[in-house]
Amino acid sequence: MNKKTNILLLPGDGIGPEVCSSVKEVINCLNNNTEIDFLVDEDLVGGCSYERHKVPITDKVIAKAKNSDGILLGSVGSPIYESLPFELRPERGLLKLRKELDLFANIRPAKVFNSLVDASSLKRDIVKNMDIVVLRELTGGIYFGEPRGIENLSDGQRKGINTEVYTTNEIIRLGRVGFEIASLRKKAVHSVEKANVMESGVLWREEIHKLKEKEFPDISLKNMYADNCAMQLVKDPKQFDVIVTGNLFGDILSDISAELTGSLGMLPSASLGEFGDSKKRKSLYEPVHGSAPDIAGKNIANPIAMILSLSMFLNYTLNFKNLSDLLEKSVEETLNRGYRTKDIMQKNCNLVSTSEMGNLITENLETLLIKNEI
Ligand code: IPM
Ligand code: MG
Repeated sequence: MNKKTNILLLPGDGIGPEVCSSVKEVINCLNNNTEIDFLVDEDLVGGCSYERHKVPITDKVIAKAKNSDGILLGSVGSPIYESLPFELRPERGLLKLRKELDLFANIRPAKVFNSLVDASSLKRDIVKNMDIVVLRELTGGIYFGEPRGIENLSDGQRKGINTEVYTTNEIIRLGRVGFEIASLRKKAVHSVEKANVMESGVLWREEIHKLKEKEFPDISLKNMYADNCAMQLVKDPKQFDVIVTGNLFGDILSDISAELTGSLGMLPSASLGEFGDSKKRKSLYEPVHGSAPDIAGKNIANPIAMILSLSMFLNYTLNFKNLSDLLEKSVEETLNRGYRTKDIMQKNCNLVSTSEMGNLITENLETLLIKNEI
């Protein structure tokens, strides 16, 4: 197993640095107790990069990202930058990373831990044992489509423009990842678009169908309109296995699926590129939650989404499925023992801070590692 793995750690803004210090503890624990050798290089993205360099990400950081084995990112954004032009806003740093590294496949699993069933805003029967994945296209669609911009009209009005664009290749490469994920799970894909009103949705539906017929005949495929999918997710989320969708719908639907699990603070994500000639793919791991400026700096944020993002790193970039499972198990056991950060606090549980939760999970992981002799 002895592998040197270069991680680029980009804590970013808001609660990013706090949840990243917990993940650094977990990384140290893995370095000390396994043959993994993580080398961590830390740098700036988002508002903190703007403060230092007047851009939300520098070319140097993009170059480092391209040369790393994987990126761990905390979060970007703060209301204090809302008046900046778009290209200087913190979010642009993240969008540029996704685009420049061609991280087109964004995997957002939403799994309800047994001990948190009652933390969900939905009734326990509806979410108990829920385990779904939203696969979101991340480098195309309306987030990047041209033309875009704000124009002045001759009558004094202004016009805001964004364009939803998808090509067959973009749809097929994402669809393929979706069917592959489903083939390791319950073998069911829901392809989500608005083919009733959008041509890009019609193309999406047709291409996903052709792909299924040609390459994945044994996976079940259903189409669903995005608005109906939003409704079905809160009505009966367990009907889903893998939801395959575009950038904007995926952004929205993954926030819904995350909240079903009890808190946005629980959900990790992986963003993957294509396999290159070296058979390695670029990868970035980040929590689904944002920078949460309202609770930043208070040591109360939930570090679990960040820690589970590292677990996805172990699985998808390093192919250490057993270690990834072990880290997930240490999170689950810590929850089973009744420890909770504020966002998932329940009656008769122990309220802990960000750093305490990080410590508890790390201690537990250490015990599991020693027991498992990995
Ligand atoms: C997400 C976030 C981002 C997005 C923002 C921060 C640019 O909401 O990762 O879901 O819209 O993609
Ligand atoms: Mg979002």
